[in-house]
Amino acid sequence: MTSAASVRRVRLHEWREVRDLRIEAVGDPDASIAFLTTTAEELARGDAFWQARTAGAAMGESGAQFVAIVDDAWVGSATVLLREPGSRDHLGQEVVVRRADVVGVYLSPAHRGRGILGELFAGAAEFAAGRGTDALTLDVHTENLRAQAAYRKLGFTPTGVTFTSVIGPELEMRRPFRAAVPG
Ligand SMILES: CC(C)(COP(=O)(O)OP(=O)(O)OC[C@H]1O[C@@H](n2cnc3c(N)ncnc32)[C@H](O)[C@@H]1OP(=O)(O)O)[C@@H](O)C(=O)NCCC(=O)NCCS
Repeated sequence: MTSAASVRRVRLHEWREVRDLRIEAVGDPDASIAFLTTTAEELARGDAFWQARTAGAAMGESGAQFVAIVDDAWVGSATVLLREPGSRDHLGQEVVVRRADVVGVYLSPAHRGRGILGELFAGAAEFAAGRGTDALTLDVHTENLRAQAAYRKLGFTPTGVTFTSVIGPELEMRRPFRAAVPG
């Protein structure tokens, strides 16, 4: 099935949509092997948090959030974050080489299996490629087999790095920008 979604970067005023899609995502049945935060944590955040997050996601130079929209409904999202050498990543590790990490990957159940993920990642790659990086990197729970399969279809391969986060065992995957995507 092909996508009929429109994919674009979020806009400054869309903090309510950003909030609502994140709250939907962390309520997904697979959320415990997909996201580092819980529904309770997301619901506890005030409007100012979502406004600030959306400002960065829409206008920032160090990250961008891409969303998929079908018939005016927000049905998917992926965020790319640039990590600078010397900074600490989301796991507290020191970043050695500038990196582009994709986080917060989510599609509403009715819109899975339609190729929308590839369009979200194309947006992330385009953003990162213009900012001194040569690959996208992401972390995925070892039991999240659907996500791993989806990432492999998009050309990602495991780097060999494994670690334990707050949600359990995870592995790192990476895709150079010019990688051939398996047909
Ligand atoms: C992960 C996610 C974004 C993937 O998007 P998607 O549109 O569902 O992905 P696709 O359907 O293109 O690819 C998934 C592949 O896994 C396969 N698959 C489904 N369930 C599977 C399972 N339990 N084990 C192995 N493979 C599985 C699908 O058949 C498909 O392969 P195919 O196209 O060859 O049939 C989406 O499923 C999602 O939002 N899941 C919940 C949140 C999440 O896990 N986010 C990722 C956090 S790292």
